[in-house]
Amino acid sequence: MEYGCRVIDEHSTIAICNSAEILRIDQAVFFFFPLFPALPVLAPVMFRNQYDNDITTWSPQGRIHQIEYAMEAVKQGSCAVGLKSKQYAVIVALKRSSSELSAHQRKIFKLDDHVGIAISGLTSDARVLSKFMRNECLNSRYVFEAPLPVSRLISSVGDKTQVCTQRAGRRPYGVGLLVAGFDESGTHIYQTCPSSNYYDCKAMSIGARSQSAKTYLERHFEEFTDADKDTLIRHGLTALRDSLPSNTKLSQKNCSVGIVGFDTAFTILEEDALSPYLSVLDEASSSSSGRGGAGSGNAAAMVTDEPAAGAGEPEVTPAEAMPSADDSQPPQSEAMETDH
Ligand SMILES: *[C@@H]1O[C@H](CO)[C@@H](O)[C@H](O)[C@H]1NC(C)=O
Repeated sequence: MEYGCRVIDEHSTIAICNSAEILRIDQAVFFFFPLFPALPVLAPVMFRNQYDNDITTWSPQGRIHQIEYAMEAVKQGSCAVGLKSKQYAVIVALKRSSSELSAHQRKIFKLDDHVGIAISGLTSDARVLSKFMRNECLNSRYVFEAPLPVSRLISSVGDKTQVCTQRAGRRPYGVGLLVAGFDESGTHIYQTCPSSNYYDCKAMSIGARSQSAKTYLERHFEEFTDADKDTLIRHGLTALRDSLPSNTKLSQKNCSVGIVGFDTAFTILEEDALSPYLSVLDEASSSSSGRGGAGSGNAAAMVTDEPAAGAGEPEVTPAEAMPSADDSQPPQSEAMETDH
């Protein structure tokens, strides 16, 4: 492959290579695909500047626009919440379906017995990353006969995604991950970004309207440390419910929970396994006349430790990978989030 650079003006250079066509296609996908309903609105703004043509071009303000667009893709994915106690780490995610005829899109993936992820953003990109992460986990088991420490897994993901924020002919992964894991140093929740930053968190939420879930987590995170499994899941579901518009509810169809802990291999709870938690959630919200009544000493819900069907091979069809346009956010999603 031939690479080179051409100076356009004093501010910017473009890289030319055989994959110039690919760059152009990527942009088309990024700008015009109905995947990001807000972006066509932003497009006139985008094309007024000449600094978002590729990842190696800096704007005069010192921004790399392509990275910011990728961060925006994460904000438009459906919400995911992660939280942990001393013994368990839990991720909870809202599933969307692109139409009445399609199935709900999977949001939580198992990587190994001790670690799993919830995603927000482009599912197709998440599949590439999760395949990479599974390989890292398998390699560790093969070479060292030990599970890969979660921090090592995350830093290798950071290294991998960083390359895409620096080299011409690539674009950043348009997906944010919440990683829940358990290893010899305890439970972990990590957040990763398209910008290749990653954060070790006590609790975190990402995706559309995640600010409301974050507010719930900030109010309650001190109770999480010693919480048992069921309480933790209830807190996660309550945080997720807080991120929904007021006339919508969680059902067993449109949310899923992943849990891992000192005595539990990573397990995905979906459908029937969730109904005990959801009914407790409903009771709590109706009895406490409003939101935020989780963890109120209700009878503990039963937990099934059986993995959800097909948890081993989380394949997602491209059709399912498209976030739904129905429940998508209005254009100014940032403003929406802070208002809520
Ligand atoms: C989840 O599903 C229920 C029942 O199908 C529905 O009433 C609710 O609006 C859905 N919630 C979201 C956020 O889509």
